[in-house]
Amino acid sequence: RIRMEKIKRFQDIHVEAARFYLANLLTSKNYGYEYLRKRGLDDKIIKKFGLGYSLDSWNALMEHLTSKGHTKEELIECGLINHKLESNKFYDKFRNRVMFPIFDYRGNVIGFGGRVLDDSMPKYLNSPDTLIFNKRQNLYGLNFARKEIKDRTIVLVEGYMDLISIYQYGIKNVVATLGTALTEQQGMLIKRYADTAIISYDSDEAGIKATLRAIEILSKLGISVKILNLKDSKDPDEFIRKYGLNEFKKAMDTSTHQIKYKIDNLKRSFDIHKDEDRVKFAKEASKIIKELKSAVEIDYYTKYLSNQIDISVESIKREVYGKNYNKL
Ligand code: GTP
Ligand code: MN
Ligand code: MN
Ligand code: MN
Ligand code: MN
Repeated sequence: RIRMEKIKRFQDIHVEAARFYLANLLTSKNYGYEYLRKRGLDDKIIKKFGLGYSLDSWNALMEHLTSKGHTKEELIECGLINHKLESNKFYDKFRNRVMFPIFDYRGNVIGFGGRVLDDSMPKYLNSPDTLIFNKRQNLYGLNFARKEIKDRTIVLVEGYMDLISIYQYGIKNVVATLGTALTEQQGMLIKRYADTAIISYDSDEAGIKATLRAIEILSKLGISVKILNLKDSKDPDEFIRKYGLNEFKKAMDTSTHQIKYKIDNLKRSFDIHKDEDRVKFAKEASKIIKELKSAVEIDYYTKYLSNQIDISVESIKREVYGKNYNKL
């Protein structure tokens, strides 16, 4: 019972903090609102996602919340204020940042992310895990996305801005992992709502690595995974602002099957003009094709591989099926 009461207080603290940040964005003189507008967000979407601004002050939030009867100790436990031990000073964790409330799937505010308005570091600060927030078990945007899912398909992006941006354009079945690698718990959460996931992480090396990891987790859960091709854009936010909704939808429709993505990615680490590399690539790629259960799919991706390296379909199939080849 004591724990339940504490959870209630923590929820209350988060709601009041979100209201405070929101009021700051709309009333005080600051560059937060301007920043969000410059990034292409309109008033409607700013309101929908409850975006706000943390003042350029050491203790504005702390003053506000303690005046409403909340203790510093609990504000620290909520990750909203920090305590500097050496000087025994307390100060707001989020200062001079645009604020993104993080919701759970029911729509309760359980944490925050804050972005700087320039290119100083760290670019984003996020709430730590608390009594009411567990990063590894939560997906940003699921409270909205779950009402928008059609055909049990979900889009997976990295960041706040990616999600809000494509949501504003009309892609609403989207959730974000917020920079961290997808966890198994998050995968299971996705599985509740979707059988197909379209991954649209950043196109940089970190994004590729995170994509490969997400593919493993999601396919183990029986989710069919496809990867969106961002062309020359670095992330889905940039893509949709550059090419628009229809191109994004087209990219969703033509997104790459996970096996093809893995083969293409593997290929990057070989120089297939060298005999040795070509053989190694063929063997490694065969292992990827081996993961497939359907004979039709195996046939399809075997041909895809064969075309690229000029090794016969017949011998790739031997490699894929191994001892079972003669039983075919
Ligand atoms: P914009 O630059 O605003 O477009 O953000 P982005 O989402 O494109 O940023 P990026 O690709 O660098 O990061 C993706 C996500 O990772 C962000 O939305 C954050 O959730 C998280 N992230 C990025 N930078 C940091 C950081 O410095 N610290 C932490 N904790 N998380 C970060
Ligand atoms: Mn209160
Ligand atoms: Mn990135
Ligand atoms: Mn990005
Ligand atoms: Mn971005």
